[in-house]
Amino acid sequence: MKILVVGGGGREHAVIKAIKKNSSVTEIYACPGNGGIAEDATCVNIKATDIEGIVKFAVETKIDYAIVTPDDPLCLGCVDALSEKGIPCFGPDKKAAIIEGSKAFSKDLMKKYGIPTAKYEIFTDRLKALDYLKECDMPIVIKADGLALGKGVIIAMNLAEAEEAVNSMMEGKIFGESGSRVVIEEFLTGPEISVLSFTDGNVVVPMVSSMDHKRARDNDEGLNTGGMGTVAPNPYYTEEVAKECMETIFVPTINAMKAEGRTFKGCLYFGLMLTPKGPKVIEYNCRFGDPETQVVLPLLESDLLTIMQATTSGTLASTEVRFSSGSACCVIMASEGYPSSYEKGYEITMAQEVKDSVYVAGATLKDGKLLTSGGRVLGVTATSDTLKDAVQKAYQKVEKVSFGNAYYRKDIGKRALLKTEA
Ligand code: AMP
Ligand code: GLY
Repeated sequence: MKILVVGGGGREHAVIKAIKKNSSVTEIYACPGNGGIAEDATCVNIKATDIEGIVKFAVETKIDYAIVTPDDPLCLGCVDALSEKGIPCFGPDKKAAIIEGSKAFSKDLMKKYGIPTAKYEIFTDRLKALDYLKECDMPIVIKADGLALGKGVIIAMNLAEAEEAVNSMMEGKIFGESGSRVVIEEFLTGPEISVLSFTDGNVVVPMVSSMDHKRARDNDEGLNTGGMGTVAPNPYYTEEVAKECMETIFVPTINAMKAEGRTFKGCLYFGLMLTPKGPKVIEYNCRFGDPETQVVLPLLESDLLTIMQATTSGTLASTEVRFSSGSACCVIMASEGYPSSYEKGYEITMAQEVKDSVYVAGATLKDGKLLTSGGRVLGVTATSDTLKDAVQKAYQKVEKVSFGNAYYRKDIGKRALLKTEA
């Protein structure tokens, strides 16, 4: 089988490494992939958002199955366009991808179907938004409606910060058109849990839970990033919490999308917060999380491609989805300075024995050398029977990877370990 993977980050590298295990896979292409992915797939220089280019390539190459994982091509209708040409795909169509593409849509969906989430109001008029802020308790959360590279959320500690957030999104357009509509929502507290799930639109099968570490610096200090590391499973996600989430969030969401004529197929990501009043949805993503995928897929014991195909064909109920009972830890190695400014072009070297557990996010190949080209450069994952051991092993592997200006957090998994030991 010829497989096409759309995207070029650490998440896509993890997906590619997992589907390679299926013996019916003969070729894997990545659009655009990256210098590290080039070890495991043929990289094709077509941007993930160039839907026309991707479709043309897929048709010419006679792709048997396409896997679309980043949010922007999904929201642009990449799955619709490929499906129209008869190429089966993993991922939601445009109508369903809106669950991530518009926060206003997802908030209204949750309200309509009674799915627990923070209280909110939606504004397209800046002055009305500013008026509303005056009656809100602080802190308050301001979200740009559309996609904003994961940066469209501002937590304002006081009224002045909240006003500035609204003005910068609605007038200053710091997130472009994504901010012309904003969601203002109640500030929730509690541990965050990521649960990715497979769904064919009828049944939903949660994967092993995980915990992201979004801040740049140790002890959850510094700027928000795309994620500096992950562990799985998330110790806050007890069996009891899992059962409650299944009943009050996962199944109702899948059914709600179906009832709205927006049947969701693919991977639905539930960003949850375990509040004192129970689990609530912080966000939905219409795709695998990054870097959650880099800990979740290494724990998957069943065949990923078979499961993906079952989400497309609607046969997930009769497909085995089994995870190991072990743990995983992924440490992201970034360029010093990320998420602000950073230098690129440093050579990456790594010991042969760690290659299989390295997922490359931001690197290019030049004259046979792998050079840093992004803020988040790569993720190093280890799995083990216990979380403590997985964390230790991941950091041992990190020692075997090096590049100029490398920076990584030293405390990935610390909070999870404190919880397990409590
Ligand atoms: P999002 O892009 O929606 O995942 O938001 C980014 C981060 O902002 C989340 O991971 C949370 O840490 C935080 N956040 C979002 N919404 C809320 C909320 N209502 N209350 C508290 N924190 C939030
Ligand atoms: N790790 C969060 C995300 O993928 O959106």
